[in-house]
Amino acid sequence: MMLDVDAVKGLDIAEVKADLKKVFVSSQDFWPADFGHYGPLMVRLAWHCAGSFRSSDGRGGCDGARIRWLPAYFDPERSWADNTNLDKARSLLWPIKLKYGKALTWGDLIVLAGTTAIEDMGGPVLGVCLGRIDDADGSASSALGPTPLQEMVAPCEADGDCKDPLGPSTMSLIYVNPEGPLANPVPELSAPQIRDTFARMAMNDAETVALVGGGHAFGKVHGACPTGPGPAPKDQPSDPWPGTCGAGPMKGKGPNTFTSGFEGPWTTNPIAWDNEYFKNLIEYDWEKHKGPGDHWQWRPVPKPGDNDPPAPIMMLTADVALIKDAEYLKWVTLYAENQTALDEAFSQAWYKLMSRDMGPHSRCLGSQLPPSQPFQAPLPPPSKPLPDFAKCAASFRQTDYSGGCNGARIRLAPQKDWPSNKGMDGVLNVLLPIKDKYPTLSVADLIVLAGNAALEDAGARKLKFCGGRSDAPADEAPLPFVPPRQFDDKIIEVRDNWAVKGLSPRDGVALAGRPRSPSQQMRLGYSGSWTSASNKFDNLYFKVLLNEEWDNKTSSAGLDEFRAVGKADVWMTPRDLAIRWDPEFQAIAQEFAADNTAFRNAFAAAWTRFMNADRFNGPTGSECP
Ligand code: HEM
Repeated sequence: MMLDVDAVKGLDIAEVKADLKKVFVSSQDFWPADFGHYGPLMVRLAWHCAGSFRSSDGRGGCDGARIRWLPAYFDPERSWADNTNLDKARSLLWPIKLKYGKALTWGDLIVLAGTTAIEDMGGPVLGVCLGRIDDADGSASSALGPTPLQEMVAPCEADGDCKDPLGPSTMSLIYVNPEGPLANPVPELSAPQIRDTFARMAMNDAETVALVGGGHAFGKVHGACPTGPGPAPKDQPSDPWPGTCGAGPMKGKGPNTFTSGFEGPWTTNPIAWDNEYFKNLIEYDWEKHKGPGDHWQWRPVPKPGDNDPPAPIMMLTADVALIKDAEYLKWVTLYAENQTALDEAFSQAWYKLMSRDMGPHSRCLGSQLPPSQPFQAPLPPPSKPLPDFAKCAASFRQTDYSGGCNGARIRLAPQKDWPSNKGMDGVLNVLLPIKDKYPTLSVADLIVLAGNAALEDAGARKLKFCGGRSDAPADEAPLPFVPPRQFDDKIIEVRDNWAVKGLSPRDGVALAGRPRSPSQQMRLGYSGSWTSASNKFDNLYFKVLLNEEWDNKTSSAGLDEFRAVGKADVWMTPRDLAIRWDPEFQAIAQEFAADNTAFRNAFAAAWTRFMNADRFNGPTGSECP
């Protein structure tokens, strides 16, 4: 869907917040508010919307708002077990969505609701980044599972111990099983899973502890009886999770709610911000017991000599884990002793959690926007005036708007050491003397310009160049950029890589037809290329790919490759052959093989779009036409 930038810019955020605050304290009969305040429910909604983000491939996050519930094609996220009863939170927000229309996308509304709730309950807030673009359906989360696509691209061998690239340890949950690994209530076993899965979300220990304990300063867990919440939206879309506890008009709601199957609050005032969660963790001994929802949870042990019973509070196994791990315990102790340290850590980590999938700061809109944060990989402003006037771009991911040529990080670790970038240092060495002639020319612009010039020289259509990239400082702390994933099945690999880059099949097939010199292919570890005339740009690639027969070989560097039968020096990679094997890609390749003009046009469009995909001076993407 399109973002109406002017409408978002015109949004009166203060007015939306005032409306939200009224909704928070107006308890509705269809879903009565715990403690008279919907704030905790909204914090959970925003956390579950944003917390699906994973740094492995940039998928997930609240940009896209794929946690929405109707219509049916918002699966899988809307039916995740961890999202039980969040349909009620979205129903509460519906009048506000209706009032502000396209100025407030669902993604922005959910993030603003969670953030305003924290503020309304007295919590610290850094600000808010708006500008999320709602997806038209939930398909961009298919790879997160559980779906047939996820089983193909990222199978989880043992549910409860799912590995990277998946975000959580358990399918359908946001990160870990609260009861302990595979419902085994051993906090010591839960801690490593929390560390592993929060790292997949790009969070360190200090951030993780601040987020879990800061989040659980609010609200309660719900598990009034053992019989569960009832069918999820995918099974009963008209009345999801109706609830099974209790009877009569309050069946399944209020005190009869079943969401996760645990029961009780973490603190004595669950609608007020403070560090009581951390104090409770440290001050009490905790013992496990089965709650009314028949799940293991933890209660405080009465203190010796204390006549009063302990406060009616509880902890989950995943909470107690934070004091059973030496590193986590340090942070719990700090936050228990120092409210200001918690305020700072929580407000920053919450903002990162909400905004990590938004990419560069320039995509953010709104009058309550904080300055660029380290996780947004800020670049210095481009040099002015610009001089008169791609492999580098291949690291771009549309899923979280990271990577790309802008910043010229291809010359820095870790990108310069990716196997797919072998030989690039040599190319850069050839180019850099040109830069010396034009001191204001950035390396990033130079690389794109050189790519354009080489392609045009070889005979490509005139390629539009749009300058203004800048270079990341050479001493920048290495960013956690990862190379594209590899799969045994090359059709899956090509599809997944193109999807992450935001390339359509037509774009991807067209770009595959670029000339590739035998020497560059050899530097990458292959035996050669499909052409020796790498300075000629036409549709030969598609003719060779479709007309030759191919023998599977292994290069001297150990790479899988294909040689044209009967031809000693005509080589393709498995990713090329995937274009021939996949019926959709093959049809596009056939069109290009038959029509050189169609190929040249498609290539010029895809190349220009891709080269500029990482250029943001505004929320919707490239500043270049
Ligand atoms: C509620 C688990 C991290 C905020 C819950 C519930 C569970 C849970 C089981 C109960 C849901 C229900 O029955 O209503 C976990 C686990 C975490 C985690 C295992 C990570 C190890 C977080 C984080 C935040 C957060 C990072 C926010 C920063 C909340 C809030 C509620 C909640 C506000 C209360 C919702 C309400 O009162 O309706 N969490 N959580 N949680 N969680 Fe977490």
